[in-house]
Amino acid sequence: MQTARTDTLLDHDRLRDIATDVGTPTYVYDARALDAGARRWIDAVGDPSRISYAVKANFNLAVLERLAAHGIGFEAATTGEMARVLAAGVTPDRIVLGGVPKTRAAVVEGIRRGLDLIVLQARHEVEAAMEAGAMRAPDDPARVGLRVRPGIQAGAHPSLETGRADAKFGFHPSEVREAWAALSGAGGVEPTALAVHLGSGLDDLAPYAEALEVLVPIAERLAGDAAPVRELDLGGGLGVAYEDAGSDPEPVDLVRLVEDRLGGSGLAARYEPGRSIAARAGTLLTRVLYRRERDGHPALICDAGFTDFGRFALYGAEHRIEPVDGETQGEPTVEVLGPTCESGDKLGTERRLHGVRPDDLLAVRDVGAYGFVMASNYNSRPRPAEVLADGTDWKVVRARESLEDLWRGETAG
Ligand code: LLP
Repeated sequence: MQTARTDTLLDHDRLRDIATDVGTPTYVYDARALDAGARRWIDAVGDPSRISYAVKANFNLAVLERLAAHGIGFEAATTGEMARVLAAGVTPDRIVLGGVPKTRAAVVEGIRRGLDLIVLQARHEVEAAMEAGAMRAPDDPARVGLRVRPGIQAGAHPSLETGRADAKFGFHPSEVREAWAALSGAGGVEPTALAVHLGSGLDDLAPYAEALEVLVPIAERLAGDAAPVRELDLGGGLGVAYEDAGSDPEPVDLVRLVEDRLGGSGLAARYEPGRSIAARAGTLLTRVLYRRERDGHPALICDAGFTDFGRFALYGAEHRIEPVDGETQGEPTVEVLGPTCESGDKLGTERRLHGVRPDDLLAVRDVGAYGFVMASNYNSRPRPAEVLADGTDWKVVRARESLEDLWRGETAG
């Protein structure tokens, strides 16, 4: 089942007010759209503690706090993300340290903190967990999982495929038993979970079904182990249809597929959605600096570029770009370009934006995931401000960087 996407609730008058007060470029997050993103998952899964929002998608403290109010958990990829979640007031028992490459120190920190789950994905991480287990009380072991590389091509952008046989993540299925046995024989840690993350931006659920055909048999083979597998962590990945005519895959369809397969197995499922919770809630406001005709190709040069929002430059992602002022007009031939020193600095191509003039405001939509979090200071450009809007109220939840912020921590001479 696919349903039409929920449009962000932010109307043009509100966006215009925010741009006037805060300036541009600015990210605006619609708190109610964040709520809707969390609720879609909770309605589908039931128990909110089975959902671990992937903090990497949008890590603003106000966003984390808003999502935490729904009772869901959080997946942190790094100690930095873990620290943010803790700073947002979330207790360690709601945090998963995710299955991406980690330092030994990060694993140790996760074990010390008493997280909900620590997903290990390489031998050195397993060794670090076994050593760190010594600091846990014997009756309170740290729950750990192993990330499996299932060898599945999931249909994501090539940079975002993470479950293929040649991916850098996780254990080959044939390596799991040995690592599991080592962990179950060590004190202070208890292996409970097998994990995968297939890739990001998936619009098809078939790869999840394939992954279950890899994970469930491994779990069955480990059933006689001192520590049986209790849960499967299926990672994130559900896509968002960014282009105009799209519709998003629904969590409920994924959950149904998973429950059908796991029914009666005694295995619980965990999900780590990032994009599908946060993307629709975000809008990037940018002002047009000027227009340029280049060999008959009209272009709008804006004050936001790939340093502020990199998804077109990195993945060719065509997010909707609406004129807040000005009109949608003419043939889809207008390019939307950023101001930096590279020709690849684009926000989108082939847009119907002929009615847009210098100083007009544009809204780049569905940028609540992997937007601000991937912004950089290239060209010494301060990163944008972030605003959280709730109905008619809104507030700045991250100030625009100042010029002094750009050299904080540097020493000259
Ligand atoms: N869990 C793990 C272990 C992950 O590596 C990721 C994403 C997620 C969960 C969340 O996946 P999601 O539900 O958001 O697809 N910068 C890229 C996305 C990279 C995602 C990497 N890992 C983009 O802009 O599309």
